[in-house]
Amino acid sequence: MIPSKQKVLEILKDVVYFPKGSNIVDAEMVKDIEVGENLVRFKLVLDDVDDEKNKFVVENAKKILNDNFGDIDVDIIPTAPVTMLSKVKHIIAVASGKGGVGKSTVAVNLAVALATQGFRVGMLDADIYGPSVPIMFGTEGVQPECYDKDGKTYMVPVQKFGIKLMSIGMMVDPSQPLIWRGPMATSALTQLMTETDWGEIDFLVVDMPPGTGDIQLCLAQNFKVSGSVIVTTPQKVAFADVRRAANMFKHKGVSIPVLGLVENMAYFTPSDMPDKKYYIFGQGHGKEFAEELGIPFLGAIPMDENIASAGDKGTPYTFGNFGPVTAAFEKVARKVIELI
Ligand SMILES: Nc1ncnc2c1ncn2[C@@H]1O[C@H](COP(=O)(O)OP(=O)(O)OP(=O)(O)O)[C@@H](O)[C@H]1O
Ligand SMILES: [Mg+2]
Repeated sequence: MIPSKQKVLEILKDVVYFPKGSNIVDAEMVKDIEVGENLVRFKLVLDDVDDEKNKFVVENAKKILNDNFGDIDVDIIPTAPVTMLSKVKHIIAVASGKGGVGKSTVAVNLAVALATQGFRVGMLDADIYGPSVPIMFGTEGVQPECYDKDGKTYMVPVQKFGIKLMSIGMMVDPSQPLIWRGPMATSALTQLMTETDWGEIDFLVVDMPPGTGDIQLCLAQNFKVSGSVIVTTPQKVAFADVRRAANMFKHKGVSIPVLGLVENMAYFTPSDMPDKKYYIFGQGHGKEFAEELGIPFLGAIPMDENIASAGDKGTPYTFGNFGPVTAAFEKVARKVIELI
């Protein structure tokens, strides 16, 4: 007996998928039906195949087809949905429990270092409360273009220095304070991630806000993040908060792999004496912190007045610069690539 495709669809309309408040056919989760002698095969679009409720849907669909067609082979192929993130190879989150340690600076210059090595790079400013990517890339006031496809609106990232940029800061008036509550902030993040047409890119570097709150949880639970880069400064007071962030990411329920620790402002190098290193806050603290956390040490970034002024002027310091600071960021980038 060869079942008819029409009948298969009719029967599958009895399988309800609660998260979408619909049955799997109307929710457009059933794709590419094939039928043969005592055989039904189709793809079922599911965001997370290992999720218990999704396993239940697969079982349910099998059972209902067997109940109707008797003892036939039912082959259901769970398939991830095609989204704007499907062509993004790796998401890297740059995070820290502490504010002001240089997350954005490290994220931006890491993105530049990756792009310099020939990778296709995107950058998302997830700091909904204090976006800094538009300032650091000099794209303040530039708004992403939008287009409609299949009834949905997508945003085209702003390109600068060969990097595709998106930030909530591009869509709101910078003079308006963003007093957003958790659910609004996380839905803004989800929108920026999924409704941006990233195209094919190798790395999406995400600049995280400080702390261990809603945004961190949202990213961890809804997106497949390849790894996080944790930023600290050499001071012990910074480390207390940094440890909290690292432990959050290592926690089972959150589960973003921690790639390692970057020690920012590790030493001071005056720009007129590029070979000098003054360890103002003590030497080797980053390595010690990394050891204590049981994570790799990714490298030390010097404190350099040009890093700060370049960020303010809207050109990442390492862009087109080949001095020791750029070398330090490139070393971190190489480690990240190696670990991923
Ligand atoms: N290595 C460095 N040398 C000199 N200045 C630096 C360095 N790293 C960061 N800064 C400066 O320190 C300030 C804070 O850096 P940045 O904004 O990157 O920190 P952040 O952790 O992202 O802060 P926030 O928690 O507010 O997001 C900025 O003015 C930046 O230019
Ligand atoms: Mg920041």
